[in-house]
Amino acid sequence: MSYAVAGKNVLVTGASSGIGAALAEGFARAGATVGICARRRDRLEAALARCQEHAPESQMWTVDLSDLDGIAGFAKEVDGALGGVDVLVNNAGIPKRRHATELEPAVVESVMAINYFSPVRLTLALLPGLIERGGRIVNISSIAARLGPPREAAYSASKAALTAWSESLKVDLADTGVDVHVVNPGVIDTELFELPDNDKLIADDVDALPVEAMVQPVLDQLANGTFEIFVPEWFADIVGGKFPDTGAFLDGTIAYVRSKSG
Ligand SMILES: NC(=O)c1ccc[n+]([C@@H]2O[C@H](COP(=O)([O-])OP(=O)(O)OC[C@H]3O[C@@H](n4cnc5c(N)ncnc54)[C@H](OP(=O)(O)O)[C@@H]3O)[C@@H](O)[C@H]2O)c1
Repeated sequence: MSYAVAGKNVLVTGASSGIGAALAEGFARAGATVGICARRRDRLEAALARCQEHAPESQMWTVDLSDLDGIAGFAKEVDGALGGVDVLVNNAGIPKRRHATELEPAVVESVMAINYFSPVRLTLALLPGLIERGGRIVNISSIAARLGPPREAAYSASKAALTAWSESLKVDLADTGVDVHVVNPGVIDTELFELPDNDKLIADDVDALPVEAMVQPVLDQLANGTFEIFVPEWFADIVGGKFPDTGAFLDGTIAYVRSKSG
């Protein structure tokens, strides 16, 4: 199912910084009109200016997507303003690096709200239009969804939920003309690693890629109809090595964490 984004309307959530801002600019450069949203107006304005150099009709919205009850109204507004969303990129998300023994239920639920329930709400709100337009849904998940990294139980569970949702969604939508994609970034150099209220990253020995490294793989994924991609690609081999014996893989992770903490 080859798909070109040129001439399409693409909504990218969480596009005020990092991967979302890079993808939005990449879509605009590829000929799409882009809608971007996040909470920080100043950062969105800067990202929008870069998109409008290539796609002058692009627009922005400031919105807090953790306000789940506001999402249906937001979706309606964006769909109307863009004249229909063809591609929904659910990218907005937050990290949570915290040891399981120090997690409060409210923290776990707040991570789930922005990383899982908000993309689900936005998808369901836009789905009738996406079906009408034969659209695409791109969910920015994480390598964490597949590997169970240390001190990221809340985060990896929210991303695993998004990945599992995406798998079933693809199957359910198979005869509608809508295709679904999962993107698993590895370590990409963004503000996600600097946000307050998070422990230090344990796996600090992986070289972070620049955000630009995300753009062509996602454009290719849409063009080729590939369900799941990893950036960098070698993470796919790590995941492939895990599944035959998850217990052995987790024992290896425990040994790695012990070696890091001396
Ligand atoms: N960087 C990596 O190595 C990596 C690895 C795996 C997965 N990911 C995933 O990639 C996605 C993008 O992250 P990033 O690395 O590019 O980090 P980032 O620069 O911190 O980007 C996160 C984006 O989400 C937005 N956002 C957060 N909470 C929001 C809310 N309540 N409402 C609306 N927007 C919200 C942020 O904008 P505002 O703060 O302006 O609202 C920002 O635009 C996330 O889903 C993340 O989990 C990243």
